[in-house]
Amino acid sequence: MNEPKDFSGGWDGYRTFCVERKEPESLTVTSFYLTAKDGRPLASYKPGQFLGFKLDMPGYEKPVLRTYTISDSSGDATHYRLSIKREPPPADQMDAPPGVSSNYFHDHVEAGSELQVRAPSGDFFLHEDDEVDGDGGKSGPVVLLSGGVGLTPMVSMLNHIVANGAKRPVWFIHGVRNGDEHAFGAHVRGLAETHANVHAHIAYLEPGPGDVEGRDYDSAGVISMELLQSLVPGKDGDFYLCGPPPFMKVLFNGLLDWGVAESRIYYEFFGPATVLKEGADDKADRKSTPTASTVPGPEAAVDGPMVTFKRSGVTVNWDPEIETILELAEANGVTPDFSCRSGVCHTCMCALIEGEIEYVNDDAFLLEEEGQILICSSKPKTDITVDV
Ligand SMILES: Cc1cc2nc3c(=O)[nH]c(=O)nc-3n(C[C@H](O)[C@H](O)[C@H](O)COP(=O)(O)OP(=O)(O)OC[C@H]3O[C@@H](n4cnc5c(N)ncnc54)[C@H](O)[C@@H]3O)c2cc1C
Ligand code: FES
Repeated sequence: MNEPKDFSGGWDGYRTFCVERKEPESLTVTSFYLTAKDGRPLASYKPGQFLGFKLDMPGYEKPVLRTYTISDSSGDATHYRLSIKREPPPADQMDAPPGVSSNYFHDHVEAGSELQVRAPSGDFFLHEDDEVDGDGGKSGPVVLLSGGVGLTPMVSMLNHIVANGAKRPVWFIHGVRNGDEHAFGAHVRGLAETHANVHAHIAYLEPGPGDVEGRDYDSAGVISMELLQSLVPGKDGDFYLCGPPPFMKVLFNGLLDWGVAESRIYYEFFGPATVLKEGADDKADRKSTPTASTVPGPEAAVDGPMVTFKRSGVTVNWDPEIETILELAEANGVTPDFSCRSGVCHTCMCALIEGEIEYVNDDAFLLEEEGQILICSSKPKTDITVDV
């Protein structure tokens, strides 16, 4: 007989979880508390890491794959908490469909629902192990900068610092549209009031009529570098960034301009990763991820392995100017699903029907499912056919 499997270090593939309860955090963000159906211990995780979900949704030909950050500290071994923002159609395209997965969670996932979940993973997490000192962790200041639902990894990191009794100074700086969308406001304020090392600043982009400065938020408008510099004592800290692309671009470039070492800036995109440093390539040398609009068009195609996107009925030559199969697809009018474009979320996973590929991204979290590949992080070695 096989020994019972120990899940404390993770698990392979998908594991069934049950929703224990669901709690609104704001008008747009709802938390889901998940427990393992098999009752075995959960896998540990680092604050900032996420879970992968495979949703079999009625009316969808194939499962919808999405990733959601664990929004609490890892102190509680009995459940994982997710906090999900309901994604409406883009403001300038109100007739477009709303977000598939987030609306499904909000409208159809209830206490008792079962979900297929991949083990915690991700390389955006609180760094604390390399300078352990007497007070329970890395002691340097940490600045947690978030916009919108990008606060979920920051809440996990903040809770972790507090739960471990670490004395390192922490600034939780969060921008959100207004009180309707503001999640974990009372929780973060409470931690700042009861812990001398915790400082919080909340900026509302457009405060609503019921929002009170000093009670609900601290400043109106965006989080600018001027605001940031007025809040934190200096640039010698670890800076964590998660939020919408404009927020990320301004603060990432602003931090570099201020002289913050790039090695101390950690960031994660929830949506498609975009080039952080437009026109600022001389500042540092971080690899950038092209977006659909920046990849070369089909006219750039030259001889190379043939790539067939079977479901789309498109066959094209590989173009060595292009970095990934996903980019080749987009350059030729094929629109596969994607999210992170960096091998992290597995949204772009698809079947390799024929041929061989190689991964071009060392950071990709590679798949164990046989015959499945991540097209955002791979290129063909031979002629290939993919199920896209
Ligand atoms: C590492 C990581 C961690 C994450 N953690 C969190 C988290 O903690 N909390 C959280 O809420 N999210 C998180 N996300 C984001 C999450 O994974 C999903 O991307 C998010 O919920 C949106 O998915 P969706 O299926 O609802 O929207 P999608 O269906 O993917 O749609 C996205 C947007 O596109 C719009 N759209 C759809 N179709 C069209 C069309 N035809 N024309 C124009 N617009 C269209 C939708 O209206 C929506 O606004 C994370 C993402 C990553 C990569
Ligand atoms: S888009 Fe996230 S892994 Fe490919």
